[in-house]
Amino acid sequence: MSLVVTFPDSSERGRRLANIMGVESICVEYKIFPDGEDYVRVPINVEGRDVVVLSDLYPDQDRKIFRTLLLIDALRDLHSRRIVLVCPYLAYSRQDRRFRDGEAISLRTLIKLFEDIGADSVLTVDVHKPQAFTCSRARCVNVEPFARYAEYVRENIGSDVIVLSPDLGSLWRAERLAKELGTQYDYFEKYRDRVTGQITMRPREVDVRDRRVLIVDDIIATGGTIREATRIVKSMGAREVHVIATHCQFLNEADRKILEAGVDTIICSDTIETGHSKVTVFDLIAEEVRRILS
Ligand code: R5P
Repeated sequence: MSLVVTFPDSSERGRRLANIMGVESICVEYKIFPDGEDYVRVPINVEGRDVVVLSDLYPDQDRKIFRTLLLIDALRDLHSRRIVLVCPYLAYSRQDRRFRDGEAISLRTLIKLFEDIGADSVLTVDVHKPQAFTCSRARCVNVEPFARYAEYVRENIGSDVIVLSPDLGSLWRAERLAKELGTQYDYFEKYRDRVTGQITMRPREVDVRDRRVLIVDDIIATGGTIREATRIVKSMGAREVHVIATHCQFLNEADRKILEAGVDTIICSDTIETGHSKVTVFDLIAEEVRRILS
């Protein structure tokens, strides 16, 4: 019988995942020594058991990554059977290639660490760029939440929306969501004025005048991207602007600033719990974990 293992600050989330899966959940003993170092202890016998480690990596990413490594190494050493690491939000995943010479590719480093220490599978939700989320030995699984988002939008906003991605990189998200809703989609193109150098953004083709716009993205951090996209569609006459994003960090009260910019609703998943987490992805995670362990 498998079991879900979490850290004390994620215990309620661990129970939630375990309840959906119909398995037991436990919390590790975890503390920080006075000098700042982490301590982890697995309090039960895990020999021969499949273990699902639920590790929430935000906020305080570096510490949470390190304690996850301690935990996986201990579980391996204690002879657990298969280890499925679930990070609903995968920290460091935006730096998934070398944008400038000499840069460290943090996503690659993180996956190497998880694999090398003993994770058999690494599961996350709506990773920044799925093509870059590849493992060499372990199984890397990206859970897509778009069908679930479409259900929420249908019930709470209506399908009569234009789905917009703030950039080309997220266009595939807009396409997935729009197809689920049976509606139009587009993305914002960036234009650079060759004389002044000034950058302007506007939807590539669709006319948003008097329309209801739904902007979809993977991450809201400072909220700058969403605010700029909102300003533009509003200036083009959009009637309503709704925003849906998977991982909502809301740095420096970004949610308040987004609402002040004229957004009618912000919809987030619960990969990071916020007051705007209106769509749960836990049942999707549970389904995928069951598939991995079947
Ligand atoms: C960028 O590629 C991502 O998909 C998001 O658009 C970005 O991380 C959002 O950041 P911010 O909220 O700070 O504009």
